[in-house]
Amino acid sequence: MLKVKLENALEKEKLEQYKDRVKSINHAINEKTMPGNDYLGWANYPAIYDKDEFEQIKKDAKWIRDNFDVLVVCGIGGSYLGARSAIEALKGLKNNDKIEVIFFGQTFSPNYTYQILKYLENKNFAINVISKSGTTTETSIAFRLLKELLEKKVGKEKARQSIFATTDKEKGALLTLARKEGYRTYVLPSDIGGRYSVFSAVGLFPLAVMDINIDEFMNGAYEAMKKYNNDNIDENECYQYAASRYYFYEKEGKKCELFVVYEPQFTQITEWLKQLFGESEGKEKKGFFPTSVTFSTDLHSLGQFIQDGTPLLFETIIHVKNPKYDVEIPHDDLDLDGLNYLEGKNLSFVNDKAFEGTLNAHKNEGKVPCIVIELDKLDAFNLGYLFYFFMRACALSAYLLSINPFNQPGVEVYKRNMFHLLGKRGY
Ligand code: PA5
Repeated sequence: MLKVKLENALEKEKLEQYKDRVKSINHAINEKTMPGNDYLGWANYPAIYDKDEFEQIKKDAKWIRDNFDVLVVCGIGGSYLGARSAIEALKGLKNNDKIEVIFFGQTFSPNYTYQILKYLENKNFAINVISKSGTTTETSIAFRLLKELLEKKVGKEKARQSIFATTDKEKGALLTLARKEGYRTYVLPSDIGGRYSVFSAVGLFPLAVMDINIDEFMNGAYEAMKKYNNDNIDENECYQYAASRYYFYEKEGKKCELFVVYEPQFTQITEWLKQLFGESEGKEKKGFFPTSVTFSTDLHSLGQFIQDGTPLLFETIIHVKNPKYDVEIPHDDLDLDGLNYLEGKNLSFVNDKAFEGTLNAHKNEGKVPCIVIELDKLDAFNLGYLFYFFMRACALSAYLLSINPFNQPGVEVYKRNMFHLLGKRGY
């Protein structure tokens, strides 16, 4: 399963000083006594999720797979990053599946919007619109456009059957619209914020449409939930990771966490992580700046800075030992590229040596602390496990910083300015 390796980061004994705080924060998470406790619904969700809705999701997903070419997932931030990262991580970037997923509603870009709408004109598509508030401007504009296109293409009744809305159970503009139009609705529970919502219908429905085993995904989350609800830092690797981050922050002034992956199809996981940690911890002039690289690609761009530049960073490397596919390097009679020394070797071998060599260089010569999170393979179970691991670590880590992980007051400021400039009533 998952291992946290700290030997290239710090001595474990350094974490002993956080033992008591970790214990009391873990207790407070379970007892819901910390700031933001109204949004701790994700913590035991893998044990208590709505099984009827879960079965309905599987049924609807199959219907969509059997009847459509494209599913358009319309949402932004926590309402799309989990699904996108899971689908890319598990299906790859070119998967030849019988159904395609397109993410929409996450930008005001006229270019992207125009091209996607053009592309969809000739496709048989269904829509999953996702918004907890129901008023997010990017998502609302995109959905208005999509709905108009679909209704024009197939008529109002067929469009109604092809639209699935994931939103709050009781309130919001999207819920009102969905009820009025008669769309199937799925629930984003009111005590779960967007960036903690991947185990709700927000993540599950798009994953199921892409034929990802959501039972296994939830089983992974459930196992992690059991494992990491342990207040003893000596035994709890999730809290060892969180406390190590805090140590770098507090004692070494390293306020920038660099997430590292070695597969392009895992890049969106780092986008999900950046949102999770950035929006949870970046408050009151505190928190880490989360950033990310995909190696070896970015060794040819940011590698120089990481090795030798301003010492701001520590690395969190997600190392998946066994890829799903592999490719062997062939023999070449001329050997003009000098690669015959690798003939018969797999690319996984080369990628792994790049990982080992880089870890060594960054740690030993660059003096960059490197935490390694190791997984044997990335399947639906392990991904559910990994997402839960990071969510729990993020909550503990924010509380170590004395930050409420579950609000995002800073996000409202640009919105107010933008609404004022757009002439929205009341701004
Ligand atoms: O994590 C969060 O709460 C945010 O990123 C939201 O998910 C994002 O702003 C989208 O909000 P909504 O689902 O209300 O459209």
